[in-house]
Amino acid sequence: MKLTLEEKDMLEGKYGKATQKSMEILTTLGDIYEAEKMIDIKSVQISGVSYANLGEAGLDFLSKMAIDGKARILTTLNPAGMDRDNWQALGIDEEFAKNQNRVIDAFAKMEVITTCTCTPYLIGNLPHYGQHVAWAESSAVCFCNSVIGAYTNREGGPSALASSLTGKTPKYGYHLEENRHGEVLFEIKTLIQGTDKFGVLGKVIGDKLGELKKKIPYITGIPIASVEELKSFCASVATYGGTALFHMEGITPEALKYPKPKNIKIEINEQDIKKGLAELIDEDIEVDFVSIGCPHASIDEIAQVAKLLKGKTVNKEFWITTGRPTKKIADEAGYTKIIENAGAKFAADTCCVVAPIKGRFKGIVVDSAKACYYGRAKNKFKVKIANIEECVKEATQ
Ligand code: F3S
Repeated sequence: MKLTLEEKDMLEGKYGKATQKSMEILTTLGDIYEAEKMIDIKSVQISGVSYANLGEAGLDFLSKMAIDGKARILTTLNPAGMDRDNWQALGIDEEFAKNQNRVIDAFAKMEVITTCTCTPYLIGNLPHYGQHVAWAESSAVCFCNSVIGAYTNREGGPSALASSLTGKTPKYGYHLEENRHGEVLFEIKTLIQGTDKFGVLGKVIGDKLGELKKKIPYITGIPIASVEELKSFCASVATYGGTALFHMEGITPEALKYPKPKNIKIEINEQDIKKGLAELIDEDIEVDFVSIGCPHASIDEIAQVAKLLKGKTVNKEFWITTGRPTKKIADEAGYTKIIENAGAKFAADTCCVVAPIKGRFKGIVVDSAKACYYGRAKNKFKVKIANIEECVKEATQ
């Protein structure tokens, strides 16, 4: 790779050990993917924050990087394994909480903003069209590339941290225009509405992409989609199809930039959506847990939950998972009071997938196809997808 003088100095250790290690990680990646050079980036989103995933080995790596490493650009964090304020109410044990805080402290020492959310674009880490960033977290990566039209590869935790400590990433993959063309045309022939249905659509498209061994769908036939519907779709298509970028005619900013794919065309009709929906509902589910906010809930979704819960009482464990800045808006708007008076709980900084709750519940109802996938695969729950209204009904009946 061709390195600038500054990048060479970083690699030689002139900016300290953590920066040197970071540049080693990035140049190794660059060599593997045959990048010609590094590029400057505008922001970073780091994943791998839950102590449950990191363990002592991961924490040891972070602690070493924190000795002299400092974030050079805006850097935010993915969800942790617990709500940093409310962990006891969520049933997290003290030992785990102590270790999770050690992880957060290491990031804080590196001057990373410890927001702990998978929707950084809702809380101020919002690049604009055409900017290069280095984000981890598959749902956020997909949103960033597709809905915003910024450029990022699907980073892992270590490479994202390395980019934060250097402000650089190797130029390959989705940073290059030639790799951003749609590969499969999907024509949607049925109305898709609601975060749950957009999640189902993501699963249907993701499954088909998996069969075809393709990654970038070009989608037509969606006349309108909200930010919340798109974040749900992103999480789902990234989970089921490994997709980091899609184009949606009339919705996403790069759809006009690239031609519609001609070689492979697939129609999605009502039957496909019904089949996808059925695959996300386990037959003999016994529901004892409801969770909304995968990806992390927006203030509009929280307002909707508050409206539906007003004056009611929940009789199942019910989490609303969101970023702490969004929770603070909910506090000020009075939504938190309504939600907590009903007996539901905020789980800020975390979610029903990354929290260490494997086997604690029998069946979960969620408005997210991604949460269904991990609810089954990681936490061994039976799952059911539903819209927000149905989720609240399930929790209160
Ligand atoms: Fe976010 Fe957790 Fe879902 S990290 S995308 S809420 S699985």
